[in-house]
Amino acid sequence: MDTNNLLKIAKDYGSPVYVYNSEKIVAQYKRLTSAFNKVKSLKINYAVKALSNISVLKLFNTLGSGLDTVSIQEVKLGLAAGFLPEQIIYTPNGVSLEEIEMAAELGVQINIDNLSILEQFGTRHPKTPVCIRINPHVMAGGNTNISVGHIDSKFGISIHQLPHLFRIVDNTKMNINGIHMHTGSDILDIDVFLYASEILFDTAKHFKDLEFIDFGSGFKVPYKEGDIETNIEELGKKLSKRFNEFCKEYGRDLTLAFEPGKFLVSEAGMFLTKVNVVKQTTSTVFAQVDSGFNHLIRPMLYGSQHDIINISNPKGRERFYSVVGYICETDTFANNRRINEIREGDMLAFKNAGAYCFTMSSNYNSRYRPAEVLWHNNEAHLIRKRETFDDILKNQIEIQF
Ligand SMILES: Cc1ncc(COP(=O)(O)O)c(C=O)c1O
Repeated sequence: MDTNNLLKIAKDYGSPVYVYNSEKIVAQYKRLTSAFNKVKSLKINYAVKALSNISVLKLFNTLGSGLDTVSIQEVKLGLAAGFLPEQIIYTPNGVSLEEIEMAAELGVQINIDNLSILEQFGTRHPKTPVCIRINPHVMAGGNTNISVGHIDSKFGISIHQLPHLFRIVDNTKMNINGIHMHTGSDILDIDVFLYASEILFDTAKHFKDLEFIDFGSGFKVPYKEGDIETNIEELGKKLSKRFNEFCKEYGRDLTLAFEPGKFLVSEAGMFLTKVNVVKQTTSTVFAQVDSGFNHLIRPMLYGSQHDIINISNPKGRERFYSVVGYICETDTFANNRRINEIREGDMLAFKNAGAYCFTMSSNYNSRYRPAEVLWHNNEAHLIRKRETFDDILKNQIEIQF
């Protein structure tokens, strides 16, 4: 997928538009599976929340991936994409018992992350296999909003509450078939990962009927030239060795599971948006694009970096710009970035736009959500239409005054 392909997609489908390259998704999936090829049984459950378009889910299905879901709607989306219930793990946080029962009814693997629901679910459904999300209390992740394994986090059952957890399992006679952790996103250091894994192994020893251990995700991808990324190959070597040793100690082969989102789809995505206005102020040159945090909120939400290139003028003289949106609040995509000269009407491409971009978009300011295009086998496929005014009014009920 080159610059000309991107410009043509923007011309054909309008701006702004998300474009995903299936080749990159497949390459990342294969990179991960080959890093762990020394493990007898490996399961990759793609985290649907990162990018949930049904065509993307279908692509993962062709690769043999499973799905990690966090809501009953994601479960239903996975089933609609053709996944079998047993290929789906459901890892909600803070949802009702009713929603968990609905997911169990659909036959997916349940993952419970609090003692209250564990006790209620175990009492009512002792035969349904349940995975337990442990909070190992390891501070990992690129930002406090995406670090979820630390002591103050709302996620998982604290390792300090294991005695209470064992009591619930004993009393209800429930069937625990998996142990899980997810400590955060953008983990820089694989040692943090390995350290948290030891805590998981220690916990796993207490359960005799395990089928899998799920190490969650949090692999860091590069966001700019020279950026650090999780060394998947080294993690693969070290964790596989340790996992295989653990299986021997445990007395049985278990499945090693992961549930990556970002690693699989972040770099596959580009967000294309047109420059409406170039505004020179006394201190800054703003490039104001036909989008805003309603379409891509990560820079405003987490301060995350998306490299921006001017695909209409890739050889232009480089200048410094602040790239901002059209929302009537501070709406900054990038500050003080060196970009090839931007002219009004130019098309900018934001990198790393595959994960947590479209899925976090909204209709704020009553704007339409953009179209999504999958670049597959050297062809552009529209996989979601841009919204229209009907979508804005859909579900609204007008009353008469
Ligand atoms: C439970 C769980 N699993 C997996 C993921 C995917 O993480 P990442 O996109 O960093 O791979 C998340 C992300 O928030 C998560 O909450």
